[in-house]
Amino acid sequence: MIHLTKSGLSKGNGALKKVEKRIAELRKVIRHHDHLYHTLDRPEISDFDYDKLLSELQKLEAENPECITPDSPTQRVGSKPLDQFEKQEHRVPMLSLSNSYSPEDIVAFDERVKKFLDRDQDVEYFCEPKLDGLAIELIYENGVLTSALTRGDGLVGENVYSNVKTIKSVPLKLNDENPPALLEVRGEVVMHKQDFKAINEQGEEEGTQVFANPRNAAAGTLRQLDPRITAQRPLKMYCYSLGATDGIAFSSQSQLISDLAKLDLPTLDLAKDSKKLESIVKKAQSLKEGEYFLPPLTVKISTAEQAVEYYEFIEAVRHQLPFDIDGIVIKVNDFKLQDQLGFIARSPRWATAAKYQPEQGETVIENIDVQVGRTGALTPVAKLKPVKVGGVTISNATLHNQDEIDRKDVRIGDSVVVQRAGDVIPEVVEVISSKRPKSSKPFKLPKDCPVCSEPVEQLEGEAKSRCVNPLCAAIMKESLKHFVARRAMNIDKLGEKIVEQLNQEGLVNSFSDLYKLKEEELLELERQGKKSVENILKSIEKSKDIELGRFIYALGIRFVGEQTAQTLAKHFKTLDAFLNTNADELTAINDVGPKVAESIMGRLNNKKFVSEVNELIQVGIRIKEMASGNSSGKQPLKGLNIVVTGSLPMGRNEIKDLITDLGGKSAGSVSKKTDYVLAGEDAGSKLTKAEELGVKVLAWEDFQALIQ
Ligand code: IVH
Repeated sequence: MIHLTKSGLSKGNGALKKVEKRIAELRKVIRHHDHLYHTLDRPEISDFDYDKLLSELQKLEAENPECITPDSPTQRVGSKPLDQFEKQEHRVPMLSLSNSYSPEDIVAFDERVKKFLDRDQDVEYFCEPKLDGLAIELIYENGVLTSALTRGDGLVGENVYSNVKTIKSVPLKLNDENPPALLEVRGEVVMHKQDFKAINEQGEEEGTQVFANPRNAAAGTLRQLDPRITAQRPLKMYCYSLGATDGIAFSSQSQLISDLAKLDLPTLDLAKDSKKLESIVKKAQSLKEGEYFLPPLTVKISTAEQAVEYYEFIEAVRHQLPFDIDGIVIKVNDFKLQDQLGFIARSPRWATAAKYQPEQGETVIENIDVQVGRTGALTPVAKLKPVKVGGVTISNATLHNQDEIDRKDVRIGDSVVVQRAGDVIPEVVEVISSKRPKSSKPFKLPKDCPVCSEPVEQLEGEAKSRCVNPLCAAIMKESLKHFVARRAMNIDKLGEKIVEQLNQEGLVNSFSDLYKLKEEELLELERQGKKSVENILKSIEKSKDIELGRFIYALGIRFVGEQTAQTLAKHFKTLDAFLNTNADELTAINDVGPKVAESIMGRLNNKKFVSEVNELIQVGIRIKEMASGNSSGKQPLKGLNIVVTGSLPMGRNEIKDLITDLGGKSAGSVSKKTDYVLAGEDAGSKLTKAEELGVKVLAWEDFQALIQ
């Protein structure tokens, strides 16, 4: 563990030197903890202590913007959106691998290698899982990450640096006192299955984007032009090969992987012997569906037989790995031999990808259920005759929406091929039309909500139709589950089952009903003893003290996820201010788009909603409002309205937060009410508007002077 000296900064002579030293120290320690946490999964300090270090660095950098460098840990979080990615040529083309599909193909590969090298002895191979994500090339110049390129057409890729730098396990600076002039490292960017599930659940709930599999989610995230969104989506990277280098050399794949790890680059660990593999298979078998682990997965071997064993080993553990894989990669280990073998067409002769057959099964759709979610969205779900696919019994498969049903022409009674898409969501791949019963009819989603019978609506541009009746029992049931959830009101003793029971029994039909529950009522529920009822009541009581952001999130407004709720809380500071806002003010907040603002206003203009919020206050909810003012209590920007534009030494969001912390306001557009426009480089229309209206324009240095 690295230790820090006490900062003890003082103004005056030598102060800048001290600050620089402290900044360098903090960066080093933070990098070290980032690596421990994100790459090695072995944190040594608490989140609280880590945040303290990071905020000290952020503060020092804000006060000394000339010290900010692109490799500082503060520079990971999303910078401003791009118009497009820049194209950049690969110094060494990014090629692809030849494919094998069976043990026989693996044996044939080994024979080809030996024949080409004209040797009888065994060749040493390095075997790795074939990760199912996106290949990315990281370019480090003098130890600092300067670009990150997609594969593109293999010759020219796109520079997605601003997105890749938000991946916490990718070092912005290599752990090397004497870094090489150039190191291009390639690897796969993936989204872990658990993260994918969480993001899709959130997307489904909030009516935003839903991805078909983790690979698409990773690709969609990396190709996204707003790095602030990327920063909220957890991506991981694992490095496995090289591009161009200058000032560093490696002799084999196994040495490459261990040396990359020493530089703090994320790699997959080496499983040293075959005993280890056996115990890993045992461990995988002991895990349940949906439980994941990341054991050492790469091996060095020397015969085709061992390569086949490895192929079977990875197949046995693949469903329990945290990411999707679609095969293994077998590489000749020695780089000299790799050079001798060279390339054929666009693939190396020294490597092959042995893929697994997709796991599919055939079954019959017995029925199609229509479920109503928290936001009222209607989701058709195929009820299947249970079928085993890849060791897991599948009895439901989502059909997404009417468009998907029409596209695949899925009908009740159809025989279908199902597969586990990316291991996570079972899906209907296709209908076997030759087996279709004569009497079958196309399936149409109902025009009325299957739960409350009110007509459903489908907004333009949306794939799903929705029930819009706020009193619909299905919506209320789901909203209640969301309301009590850990990240919302955190009524931890009220599990989903009890909430459902309470709702079914008619005891709880609104959020505020939860706070009116009586001991006798709870005791009457099935399987509730005195002790558990006591605990439930205690946890309901405890939930009454809640921060504004969590409270807003708990209200379950469509498109208002945790992040947005926090942004709203930071902006409004009090519940009253939030309840009395208007569409203009909302859209002026950074990160609140017109769709979100419309959804919030829809709720705030709904009398039932507002009276329910008031009822919650009546039953005793105490909202911890956001403290206004910064830690020093000074408010040099009190009453000032400052619009921020152009590119500045700090992220725009951070500057806006700083303005609010110091007592000011930061709107999105320039008007007569604007006191100052803080303009950085490439400031556009806002600067012109300020000049037209005669609003005073501040450069970064002027702003610094203002807040000092
Ligand atoms: S090595 C010459 N190793 O597979 C190519 N690739 O078809 C050398 N991939 O574009 C690539 N896991 O996206 C290599 N352990 C691994 C891999 C891997 C996945 C992907 C990569 C590449 C594609 C090649």
